[in-house]
Amino acid sequence: MDPQSLLERKEFAIELARQAGKTILESSKSLKKIELKDSFADLVTETDKGIEKFLFEELKRKFPNDRFIGEESMNKEEWTNEPTWIIDPIDGTTNFVHTFPYSCVSIGLSINKQSYLGIVYNPSFDRLYVAVKGEGAYLFEGNKKDGIKLQVRNCSSLDEALVMSEFGGQRDDAKKECVFRNLEVIGWRCHGVRSLGSAAMNLCAVASGHADAYYEFGLHIWDMAAAALILNEAGGYACDTRGGPLDMQNRRIIGACNEHIAKQISTTLPIHLDLERD
Ligand code: IPD
Ligand code: CA
Ligand code: CA
Ligand code: CA
Repeated sequence: MDPQSLLERKEFAIELARQAGKTILESSKSLKKIELKDSFADLVTETDKGIEKFLFEELKRKFPNDRFIGEESMNKEEWTNEPTWIIDPIDGTTNFVHTFPYSCVSIGLSINKQSYLGIVYNPSFDRLYVAVKGEGAYLFEGNKKDGIKLQVRNCSSLDEALVMSEFGGQRDDAKKECVFRNLEVIGWRCHGVRSLGSAAMNLCAVASGHADAYYEFGLHIWDMAAAALILNEAGGYACDTRGGPLDMQNRRIIGACNEHIAKQISTTLPIHLDLERD
């Protein structure tokens, strides 16, 4: 894709992310109609569906030949080499339901299955994270025109690291063992464990140097597409939990400030959950 077309997509998608963020804020205080998906802890609201519909419609109108993958779409498009928008309308739905202020809109764009654009917007703190492949990652706060260039922290060892992870919404014995056994081992080897309730927010925290690593099993391509690029462009390193290249359809990730920490986590994790691919 030529640079002008990518720039056009970036600017348009940023505007949409901000509009979607407004909807999140406006609806966050009202009564929500909550539906359950795969478990009692896997929630979806009308706002999730409404925002995805809005983003799909607007982007399709402007870029009719692009393709679309989104969490709440019933008929999932296959991920191909074509320019593909990968969208999570609200990452952190549980936060949204409970008004914990770490939900965000996540919009990624892949071409030839490589991430070219990553946009994550947290409306509660009016923080917009933007990355373009090869051009770095930036944080725009409030209505400030200039972004702050993001740079990961330089942490040299797991025993000096602040690590992030999540339970996720799955509730079965295999996931339970994976979550708690891994937490026991990793948690006891590092400075502390944090959990923001949003994969994208966790990855942006590592990209911003506020934490050193994040790992999770059971997430999906839309949870990581935008924020993994933001992390990479901030100088970080994302890979599969077994240490190989990141495969966004493989339902798991380690995102770290550098390769060394990622590999240390990979070799320290006692359990690697293999889930059905996206
Ligand atoms: C979830 C959040 C959560 C993570 C789950 C995701 P959703 O996304 O990112 O932090 O633990 O794995 O599914 O459902 O809020 O979009
Ligand atoms: Ca969800
Ligand atoms: Ca998500
Ligand atoms: Ca979501």
